Amino acid sequence: MKHVSFFALLLLVSVLTLNAQQTVICISTEETDLIFKTAPSGRLYQSYFGKRLMHETDIQSLPYYIARPASDDSVVPRGWEVYPGSGAEDFFEPAFAVRHNDGNLTSILYYRSHQVNEIEPGVVQTVIRLADDSYPLEVTLYYVSFVRENVIKSWTEIRHHEKKPVVLSQYASSMLYFESAAYFLREYSGDWAREAQRSDQELKFGKKIIDTKLGSRAAMHAYPFFQLGLGQEVEEDRGRVLAGTIGWTGNFRFTFEVDNVGNLRVISGINPYASDYELQPAEVFRTPEFIYTLSEEGVGKASRDLHRWAVNHQLKDGKGDRLTLLNNWEATGCDFDEAMLAGLMREAKELGVDMFLLDDGWFGNKYPRVDDHAGLGDWEAMRSKLPNGIPGLIASAKEAGVKFGIWIEPEMVNPGSELFEKHPEWAITLPNRDTYYYRNQLVLDLSNPQVQDHVFGVVDRLLTENPEISYFKWDCNSPITNVYSPYLKEKQNHLYIHHIRGIYNVLQRVESKYPHVAMMMCSGGGARCDYEGLKYYSEFWPSDNTDPVDRLYIQWNFSQFFPIKSMAAHVTSWNPSASIKFRTDVAMMCKFGFDISLKEMTPDE
Ligand code: DGJ
Repeated sequence: MKHVSFFALLLLVSVLTLNAQQTVICISTEETDLIFKTAPSGRLYQSYFGKRLMHETDIQSLPYYIARPASDDSVVPRGWEVYPGSGAEDFFEPAFAVRHNDGNLTSILYYRSHQVNEIEPGVVQTVIRLADDSYPLEVTLYYVSFVRENVIKSWTEIRHHEKKPVVLSQYASSMLYFESAAYFLREYSGDWAREAQRSDQELKFGKKIIDTKLGSRAAMHAYPFFQLGLGQEVEEDRGRVLAGTIGWTGNFRFTFEVDNVGNLRVISGINPYASDYELQPAEVFRTPEFIYTLSEEGVGKASRDLHRWAVNHQLKDGKGDRLTLLNNWEATGCDFDEAMLAGLMREAKELGVDMFLLDDGWFGNKYPRVDDHAGLGDWEAMRSKLPNGIPGLIASAKEAGVKFGIWIEPEMVNPGSELFEKHPEWAITLPNRDTYYYRNQLVLDLSNPQVQDHVFGVVDRLLTENPEISYFKWDCNSPITNVYSPYLKEKQNHLYIHHIRGIYNVLQRVESKYPHVAMMMCSGGGARCDYEGLKYYSEFWPSDNTDPVDRLYIQWNFSQFFPIKSMAAHVTSWNPSASIKFRTDVAMMCKFGFDISLKEMTPDE
């Protein structure tokens, strides 16, 4: 046995004595307990995350610390710190990193207090206040447990009272730890028209990161959700699985790190890439929500729990009906006129759907939107195609007996547009380099409050002038390129975060003024698919790929996280060799619609 010094013994005794005042925090659903305990030092540790414990004594007997390797002979046991900062004895990825006014890069957070409130029946919020003891800096951890649905969401608020701004370089929403014999990660990746393809791998020592840097949407190559098999591969109806997703419509990052003793930490949040955040004294930095469920019966159970939770608590109009529709994008592209649209509206009625949805190509006069090269930004009906404007279309829809919805992409601008002529400084673009155009367009700078007003104004004006518009398909076809905000100037490190906050500001205004107008979230196919967006949109468009065979996989994979009523699916001619019956069956699994002209079908069909 190793020699234990007198001072070490003294410390051990004080550890035990202080243990009497230990704080225990249980974040529970009907099936799961996440338990935190304070150490004698006053720091807070994850003591347990697993099946609901049956007895108080089970909770009391849990240690706050974890077994440590022989190489670590410190007397104070090492733990899984709930929100570890940098510069202490944890040698792996922190949840949080800050540069204080004096240049110090360390931060150690101590438990101060916590509160538990039932915010509505079956929804319990736990708020835990931590503070650094050497700097006036506070971190508040929020956990909301949806008791019946077995879902927890958590986020963090950071604030300080130093004299000048501090710089945050890591600011996770959540940190969770696991101890298992093996870890198997199921992630989702893809691209346009092959969204959310799943792949599995075993996690071994070191880090695996899933992240994106697309700026204006969470997804395209990587998706903001994952499943983690604990002790066994991910299976449909057996085994322990964590299913998690981040509610953030921009750059996200999941870090999975297996450490020297085979424990896994899972850190979720905004991707801090190019986003060191200068936090002003008294300003509150709020991270996005990380939403997760722990299932003991495979991913099938996890997905059903997420569906129930989404419908009951998160998804816009979760319990409401949806409008079935006929969209014209696949049938016409930008090539249509008033008479053709009126014909499609009559077809919509014949098909028995609720609404006709007019897609891209209806706007722009000086720079007409004849294809995707011009017009974005100029949200005036194109006189040559639509001499009677939107009111004329609404009149035709009424005559046909269907509602009317319309496509917009208000966060974007084509350089060929009156908007760009007037406000080139509203576009995110570099003043001193060649411009790279993704789909011939630029992203408007939503970090700029004037641009937020403009984007809200697009929706507001359309609805004020045409209160009969029932629905928007809100698209976002470009990631942020030429990453420079003319508005933020020397604060470019705030662009990715302020841009997304700017989008939420617009969406909140739309929601509060027009709560009954339904909207579809679309992003060049399925690149926007996150639960913060779905607070404002009742559904999203999973993919432009509507070949029913491919769509089955895409829909199945998204359905691991999202309820089917939140996913739009249309019958189209992507694969005309598939029967109309099969195409319809696949589309009917989700929120149903058509994007086809009756002329493409036989009378029998
Ligand atoms: C991308 C969307 O995914 C399509 O459905 C369609 O709306 C086009 N944009 C229009 O430009």
